[in-house]
Amino acid sequence: MKNIDSYTHTRGESIYLDDIAEISGTLFGACFDSPVAHGIIKNLDLSEAENMNGVVKIFTHNDIPGRNEIGGIIEDEPLLADHHVHFCGMPIAFVVAETSEHAYAAIKKIKIEIEPLPVITDPRVAKEKNELIIPPRTFKIGDTASSFSTCDYIFEGRADSNGQEHLYIETQGAYTVPLENGAIKIYSSTQGPTAVQRACSKVLAIPMHQLEVDVTRLGGGFGGKEDQANAWAALSALATYCTKRPVKYILNRMEDMRMTGKRHPYSSDFKIGLNKELKIIAYEVVFYQNAGAAADLSPAVMERTLFHCTNSYFIPNVNATAYSCRTNLPPNTAFRGFGGPQGMFAIECAIAKAAAELKIDASEIQKINLIKTGDEFVYGQIAASEANECWQKAEQLYDVEKLQAEVRKFNSENGLFKKGIAIQPICFGISFTKTLMNNARSLVHVYSDGSVNISTGAVEMGQGVNTKILQVAQSIFSIPAEHIKVNSTNTFRIANTSPSAASATADLNGKATLLACNAILTRLKIVAAEALKSDPEKIELKNEFVFADRKKSEITWKQLVSMAFVKRVNLSEHAHHATPDIHFDATKEKGHPFAYHVYGTAILTATVDCLRGTYEFDSVKVVHDFGQSMNEIIDRGQCEGGIVQGIGWMTMEEIIYGKEGKLKSNALSTYKVPDVYSAPKEIAIHFLETKNNSLAIFNSKAVGEPPLMYGIGAYFALRNAVLAYNPNSVIPYDAPMTPEKVLLSLHQGK
Ligand code: MTE
Ligand code: HPA
Ligand code: MOS
Repeated sequence: MKNIDSYTHTRGESIYLDDIAEISGTLFGACFDSPVAHGIIKNLDLSEAENMNGVVKIFTHNDIPGRNEIGGIIEDEPLLADHHVHFCGMPIAFVVAETSEHAYAAIKKIKIEIEPLPVITDPRVAKEKNELIIPPRTFKIGDTASSFSTCDYIFEGRADSNGQEHLYIETQGAYTVPLENGAIKIYSSTQGPTAVQRACSKVLAIPMHQLEVDVTRLGGGFGGKEDQANAWAALSALATYCTKRPVKYILNRMEDMRMTGKRHPYSSDFKIGLNKELKIIAYEVVFYQNAGAAADLSPAVMERTLFHCTNSYFIPNVNATAYSCRTNLPPNTAFRGFGGPQGMFAIECAIAKAAAELKIDASEIQKINLIKTGDEFVYGQIAASEANECWQKAEQLYDVEKLQAEVRKFNSENGLFKKGIAIQPICFGISFTKTLMNNARSLVHVYSDGSVNISTGAVEMGQGVNTKILQVAQSIFSIPAEHIKVNSTNTFRIANTSPSAASATADLNGKATLLACNAILTRLKIVAAEALKSDPEKIELKNEFVFADRKKSEITWKQLVSMAFVKRVNLSEHAHHATPDIHFDATKEKGHPFAYHVYGTAILTATVDCLRGTYEFDSVKVVHDFGQSMNEIIDRGQCEGGIVQGIGWMTMEEIIYGKEGKLKSNALSTYKVPDVYSAPKEIAIHFLETKNNSLAIFNSKAVGEPPLMYGIGAYFALRNAVLAYNPNSVIPYDAPMTPEKVLLSLHQGK
């Protein structure tokens, strides 16, 4: 089944935030944000701006009726700066005017004096100064201290990975409309409608039942709208609350890049110990997470870094410590993988370093350390592993030895072009790491004409979750897709939702939908059994007809619904699903936090132009554990998109802040994301079918985030190509491996 949005997407008819018809009287917002990264506001002069044509009001922290606070996990983030600014781009004042042009003209007339304070941009410096968001956490298993002495080889090093701009096509924004009695309807481009509702409730000091957040779909979120859609909705709602008029505020691209947080850059120190057989005996790692100026989701992201610090390997002795470091950058946030990729990059660097020192291929170490069923993860969960299956299938299917031989042959025959190959296994835990968040609800209505309308907490952001939810209802009721509509996500219909995140949206909301549909089906079967003088257990619905005792009856789906309606049977259901069996004890850092893990192996080949430092990815060949995919088109799309986004993070997207904390890569002219030309020439994806995944919806494993981490292999493929040209090059483990870094490493010392 195709994505149900493909028809309107390709015709340009899909409705995004900015496509919502504007109500007359709508005002337009613009934000005045801090020009410096750290300082004390000495004077803010709004007088000239306030008198500008078309300006209705300028809001500062003094105008907030409730609390000037939008921090989700920790209450440490003002919506509008009071006397202190903590990062460049921090909102200070919010202008609303009759048109957007009037609002932006007024912004230019705001005058501010800020007394600068010292700026920290480096997480290691922040750690030295004890600028930590939360106390450090350590995950451990076995005993590294004693086991290093038994190792034959020990290697140490440092790994750095940079941030990443989400670059959703639809920028952040909100449109807020006054309802009667002080209620407000908030259209928001958010992954977390409830998070927006909660933040606005706090800022305005009105109960959540007054705030209807509605989301039709997003033009991408990638984690950037899990928590960071809140501020724009709160500013807009504040203006609506005070002016009693609709207010629209949509950031332009440069504002979005400057004012919002990104993937967390990490700097890490590692120490790895192996025995003669290349078994990894011990691993120590310290992570310095660059959190930015406020907590945002950093504590949760840091936690997932620790969960994934051994990737898909079993290591008996591990000690992993993470520091969430406060710097003067915009607060960094969720981004596809949620800290997992950063943890996995460090262990891959440690393995690569060991392989380089031992003059062997990293895959020799990777392969023999893959986690097996029954092995224990650092956090105590016992693996039900597909790591070896994925690796072996990839080795066979894609003939890895032949690929490696081809690369060696190419390199021996070519002077100015070199190829590099890398194998990248992945392992990703599915569930919110915060156990309480793993729940969802679905509201299903069957109308008297037999058409079906479904509301859940799931937000469609391009990942195809609405299509999967529709498929659930379709398979239970056995009716065509045209009879089913998946509604917008709305806090008045579905309450207390977790954000659409952690790749778990289809599992959680799909399972709730399954429960709701089954409850209605059970009632319909009783009606059918009465009419056909049969037993409810013997009734089945197939292709719009009722079957009794396997025999097709004359009764259609529509007739059955109509009969039930006449009999006053309830044709609606609201169902709740909470993932069973998961738990985690943060005092011990042990438990069983994930419903299941997703595994996979990718083989990546790159060709480097050794004169120019430019490169291409020849192919990415993947064996991915999908469970039993319920939609191969969507799942393939998620893999391809994740892979290209991961390659972008590791090889070309370079976020640069100046020492003074100003974003230099602040537009698409200075920040390069992969385009169709830089995507791999070939992406081959083999669907490995695996069983026993009952916590996945229809056994179809979550697919949103895991494939991004295949991109880590792109970094190592490039490194290997550079080293084929210049074996003596000393290349720090410092991603992204941009063309500039490739060029310098190629010719280093030559
Ligand atoms: N795919 C598209 N097209 N757009 C997105 O914004 N977000 C990713 C992933 N795939 C995203 C996407 C992220 S960060 C997550 S957590 C999952 O989708 C969320 O959706 P799911 O839980 O339904 O997989
Ligand atoms: N993943 C993604 N988003 C989250 C998580 C998580 O584990 N926890 C809280 N938000
Ligand atoms: Mo995804 S980073 O969990 O929104």
